[in-house]
Amino acid sequence: KLMKVFLTRRIPPEGMKILSAAGVCEVSQWDSDEPMQRADLLKGVQGAHGLLCLLSDKIDAEVLDAAGPNLKVISTLSVGYDHLAIDEIKKRGIRVGYTPDVLTDATAELTVALLLATARRLPEGVEEVKNGGWSSWKPLWMCGYGLSGSTVGVIGLGRIGMAIARRVMPFGVKRLLYSGRTAKDYAAEVNGEYVPLDTLVSESDFIVVSCSLTPETQGMCDKAFFSKMKNTGVFVNSSRGTVVNQEDLYEALSSGQIAAAGLDVTTPEPLPTNHPLLTLKNCVVLPHIGSATYSTRGIMVALSAQNLLGGLQGTDMPSELTF
Ligand code: GLV
Ligand code: GLV
Repeated sequence: KLMKVFLTRRIPPEGMKILSAAGVCEVSQWDSDEPMQRADLLKGVQGAHGLLCLLSDKIDAEVLDAAGPNLKVISTLSVGYDHLAIDEIKKRGIRVGYTPDVLTDATAELTVALLLATARRLPEGVEEVKNGGWSSWKPLWMCGYGLSGSTVGVIGLGRIGMAIARRVMPFGVKRLLYSGRTAKDYAAEVNGEYVPLDTLVSESDFIVVSCSLTPETQGMCDKAFFSKMKNTGVFVNSSRGTVVNQEDLYEALSSGQIAAAGLDVTTPEPLPTNHPLLTLKNCVVLPHIGSATYSTRGIMVALSAQNLLGGLQGTDMPSELTF
């Protein structure tokens, strides 16, 4: 008898092919590009043996109970897993698949692009060209901050943080600071200096947040954090929105406490179009597109389908979260 699999979103054909070729499951899916409402999710998961979800689906005890005792595996199409209630999942003996490694390069690349776009004011410059603000070449017009000779601080030197560090060093960065729970041997490759968070915040010209969302990092970038930053400092976040207290960030940006911020992640997502942060010229907001290259997304979908099959069949999963 075929096992039941529920997908919380349409996935590209590559993923569907992998699932059907295995011949072990019947797939039902939320047949839309719009996110699932909670009630639909609770209904959709009923009786499922496997669940393939996105980072925007909150999988908690209520969803697990709605799924019932068949559920063996949850495969998320993301490297982050803060949307999964890991303790509840563990208690029920459910396995979890995720997509580390395959999106590291794409996400690091996007983060560096966002850093440069923010520091050199690219969106603002493009806007000035379109609205006639470009009246002549002016010595101090549209000036920003460059990486050459600067100090960059990476909060969370994991896979993605390290890939970001490798990419910024060739721009002539003078010092690379990082903070986190432990010092990393591999930081030597980028001459990374392990420092306390406070030191990183006060000494960096550019701060890149690349840590996972945990109870310790939630709200970490708050008023006290921004007040320690240089007035010329540029802040970039491509991890999770709730690492930042957005009211405090707004205050820091609008008062000139810090120079600029680039965000690929926000609270909530999507950020409402009337959000105060969007009124600021020195805040560049992207719609959570870190891993969004055609090839990376294709590989992520295939990997999450393979993770799901491994979990259903009780065999190895290519990327199983161990907890
Ligand atoms: C993206 O944010 C991911 O976790 O994959
Ligand atoms: C800039 O275009 C310069 O020539 O200085």
